[in-house]
Amino acid sequence: MKKLRIIGTGSALPEKVLTNAELEKMVDTSDEWITTRTGIKERRIADDNTATSDLVVEASKLALQQAGLNASDLDAIIVATVTPDTFYPSTGCWVQKGLDIKGIPAFDLSAACSGWLYGLEVASGLLTTGTCKYILLAGAECMSKVTNWEDRNTCVLFGDGAGASVVAATNDDCGILSSTWGADGTIGDLLVQPAGGTRLPASHETVDKKLHTVHMKGNEVFKHAVRSMGDAAAYALKEANVTGEEIALFIPHQANLRIIEATCRRAKVSMDKTYITVHKYGNISAGTIPIALDEANRVGRIKRGDTLLFASFGAGFTWAAIVLKW
Ligand code: UT7
Repeated sequence: MKKLRIIGTGSALPEKVLTNAELEKMVDTSDEWITTRTGIKERRIADDNTATSDLVVEASKLALQQAGLNASDLDAIIVATVTPDTFYPSTGCWVQKGLDIKGIPAFDLSAACSGWLYGLEVASGLLTTGTCKYILLAGAECMSKVTNWEDRNTCVLFGDGAGASVVAATNDDCGILSSTWGADGTIGDLLVQPAGGTRLPASHETVDKKLHTVHMKGNEVFKHAVRSMGDAAAYALKEANVTGEEIALFIPHQANLRIIEATCRRAKVSMDKTYITVHKYGNISAGTIPIALDEANRVGRIKRGDTLLFASFGAGFTWAAIVLKW
């Protein structure tokens, strides 16, 4: 069996910054409330002409450049997203068009905030068995386009952006040391975009009621997130026979600083070994981990041979954790 190595990372964030001060003028909220409850100070917002695949293409070009590959070297494209350009074709196919290649498989993976880690599991299967040699794995969202800007419970939380990684099959001593992934669909309605699918197709009524936007019972989701992310991280560490102290860098999903702190306590990883982006980008769902990974990689926070921990929790509910030797 082959191993996997992430040989290139890239990210793309829209230029427009939306600060807490600006949100104070839009809804009944305050910088103090948002900062103390979430850790978020600002987030990025895509303009009207930008769709999720546009950000993925930009991020992918940087990842390919770092990997020293051309788009034509890829064997597959996987885009983790819950905010696709269109239901079909998939965002993966639009990315393929944006990269000006054709022939290889391209598809989306829907696991909300756990999407990129689910994608790494899928990529691992394809790479270690020899089905693929190079996979482009992206996590990306335009959450601002499914946000109800009159709902203070949710509009302060989310942002837009894309992270892309080129994942390669290798014989080197690296790759996934342990992993866990799971889901619980029985309580999926705690975090849901109710309309636009076959359950509640688009109609004037669904648009008037803003049912094409994020609906979340925040404090209930919070409790599940703390437990599931902490359990997943602790389980993956145990399976890899690695302690939290031995982790070089922890890259968690970035929904809320308090959830990250609780996960660190459970996994016994210190906050100074934890890469944080939530203050400047908010929650970009599937985008948070690959964007943070790219930033950490580019500022030299990751070295060959380092042991990394990833953990996530999101709509579904879905969760995942991976211990990876870089
Ligand atoms: O990405 C993966 C899935 N998502 C998550 O992991 C998010 C999980 N949830 C959370 O991060 C937190 O639950 C929130 C940040 C969403 C909310 O924080 P909380 O401490 O759980 O607050 P709460 O929902 O219990 O609300 C407390 C109060 C309520 O007022 P009352 O009913 O106590 O008078 C809310 O109406 O805060 C009020 N509130 C706000 N106040 C000012 C809710 N949103 C706002 C706001 N500004 N933006």
